This record gives sequence, structure tokens and C-alpha cells, in this order.
Amino acid sequence: MPKGVGASNDSGARSLSIRMTVWRKIALGALSVVLVSATAVALFVWFQVRAFDKSIEKAWDIPLRELEVTITKQTIARGRHISESIGGCSNGECHGADLGGGTPIDMRPLGRVSGPNLTSGGLGSVYSDAELVRVIEYGVKKDGHSLRFMPSFELSWLSDEDLSALIAFLRTRPAVERAPGPIELGVLWKVMDRQGVGVVLDVARHMAQHAPEKAPPPAPTAEYGYYVARTCIGCHGSTMSGGPIPGAPPDMPIPANITPHETGLKNWSFSDFEVLLDQGIKPDGAKLDAFMPLAALSHMNSVERQALWRYLRTLQARPFGRR
Ligand code: HEC
Repeated sequence: MPKGVGASNDSGARSLSIRMTVWRKIALGALSVVLVSATAVALFVWFQVRAFDKSIEKAWDIPLRELEVTITKQTIARGRHISESIGGCSNGECHGADLGGGTPIDMRPLGRVSGPNLTSGGLGSVYSDAELVRVIEYGVKKDGHSLRFMPSFELSWLSDEDLSALIAFLRTRPAVERAPGPIELGVLWKVMDRQGVGVVLDVARHMAQHAPEKAPPPAPTAEYGYYVARTCIGCHGSTMSGGPIPGAPPDMPIPANITPHETGLKNWSFSDFEVLLDQGIKPDGAKLDAFMPLAALSHMNSVERQALWRYLRTLQARPFGRR
């Protein structure tokens, strides 16, 4: 074999082995970066889930508040209005039209939640009036633990008069026997809740940071409308500019911008708004997606509608999707 060929083979093999060593180092380096990051993420998730589970088992020390509940035709009618309209309790996916428990709200992959039976066939026979007030205002259950998912922040503004009317209505519903639906909370949902992203899951913790502010007496003013509009923020976002609900399944309809921006309600009149509520038709003739709970919202009375509209007009005009 000529000398030169052996030499060049030698140096070729050497440079190949140097290249392999370099590559091996890079691969090992990359692998350790991946492993360290994966461990950091896993630890982060583990701590967040643990913190969530601990918080949901925490006993909150919120004193009970006695309210006088008088059962009359008027209080039942007012309570029914709150339950079926601005409160949204009697919604099919919440507590059901008969308040005997709702159909599960499917947020998979985040999880699934179901509203319990509130009639005397369910929790109605277990909770005292004062315990009902506490659970609505603070999201704290009879045993002191936190509710999951229930939008107490949309209801805690109700005046004592309205709360007691709501309880009067609830107490006079026929008993329903229906087994409770599933509550399954996925890891991602728990982590999001701890990070304050998306729909609130750990209600008592949230309410402890946002103590109830009571509404002024009902009047067709933006000040009152601010409270009526609490029921819109879960979907339209706290700035009302809409956009996908964080973490919601991709096939879930996307709430619109309802601020006075050009991507929102800039060119809408109050009568356009009323047509939407009553008929589910937008000014351009399009039909509103059935995801928005018009069955409840169309029952708003004229004071609530005007108050809500006035409030929506006072919002800062924001582009779509700045929830
Ligand atoms: C359960 C979720 C949900 C709630 C609660 C909700 N909305 Fe909506 N809303 C939607 C979705 C989704 C759309 C978009 C539907 C579509 O485009 O067909 C929408 C659309 C609208 C529109 C039409 C905007 C446009 O430009 O087309 C208006 C107005 C509106 N909502 C007002 C309200 C108000 C006011 C409230 C509270 C009283 C409210 N919504 C509560 C989900 C909701």
C-alpha cells in the first residue's frame, strides 16, 4: 500500500473521531438542557397542582351572615328573575331549568364540571339560608372548603334584598331527584388557575382577593350596568374585548368584542342591542351563536338592559381579543 494513502486514512479517521467527539458533546449538552428543562417544568407543574389541591381543601374562615328570607309572591318573582336572567342560575348548563342540577360543561382537555342540584332533593335540604348567602358571595361551601368553577364574582354584588329573594325562589322550587354530574379537573386547568389565567376554578381563593362590592339600587345608569355586566366577563373577558377563552377547547365559539371599538359595537345602537337580545340577530342580519346564553339574557328587564348598554358605552374602545 502506498505510504501516503495510509497516512491520509489515518488523519481522516482522526478528524472523523474529533468530529464525532464534538457531536457527542453537543448531543449530550442538548440532552442535559432538555432534561433539566423537563425536570424544571415537571417540578413547577407538581408544585402548582399541589398548591391548588391544598387550597381547595383549605377551610376558609368566612363568618355566616343571617338574612331574613320572606316568602311572598313578590320575593319569589324577583328571585326567579335573578335565577333565570341576570344571575344565570337556571341555565341548562349551570344548575338546570328546574335547578335540579345542570348538564356537564365540557371544557376538555381542561376538564368537566357540573352544577349541583339546588332543590330540596339535593343541596337545598342541606344548606341553611346563611350558608347559601356565604356560598353565593364567597364561594365557600357548607364545610368551609372552596367551590370549584361557580362564578361567585358574577353574583356577589347582589343586594341583601336580591339575595334573600333568590333564596326565597330556591326554597319554593319542587324537589328534584337527580344524581350529581361529574367534576374532573385536569392538571393544566389547575396550573392555569394558580397563574390566574382563564376561568376561575378555586372560587374562595379568588373571592378572598376580590371581596364583594354591593351594587347601588337598580336604575338605568352605567353605575348599575357595571354590576349587570359581571355576567358577561366570563366569556367576553374583563375588558370586554372578546377573544378565545383561555384554555377552552378549539371548537368553543369565540366571544366577540363588545367595547365601542370598530371591531366591536362602535356602530351599534341601543335598538340593535335589543334586537340581538330578543331575536339573536345582529345588525348585519347574521344569527348569534347559541353559545351566548340568550335564553337567560333576553329576560333582562328594561332597567337592566338600559343600564347594561350605558355601561358598555363607557368602556374603553379596545381592539378585538385584548381580554
Ligand atoms: C357563555 C358565554 C357568553 C356570555 C355569558 C355572554 N356572551 Fe356575548 N357572545 C358570546 C359569543 C361566543 C359571541 C359571538 C357569537 C357570534 O358571533 O355568533 C357573543 C356575541 C355577543 C354580541 C355580538 C357582538 C357582535 O359584534 O357580533 C354582543 C352584543 C354580546 N355578545 C353581548 C353580551 C353581553 C352584554 C353579555 C352579558 C350580559 C354577554 N354577551 C354574555 C358569548 C357570551
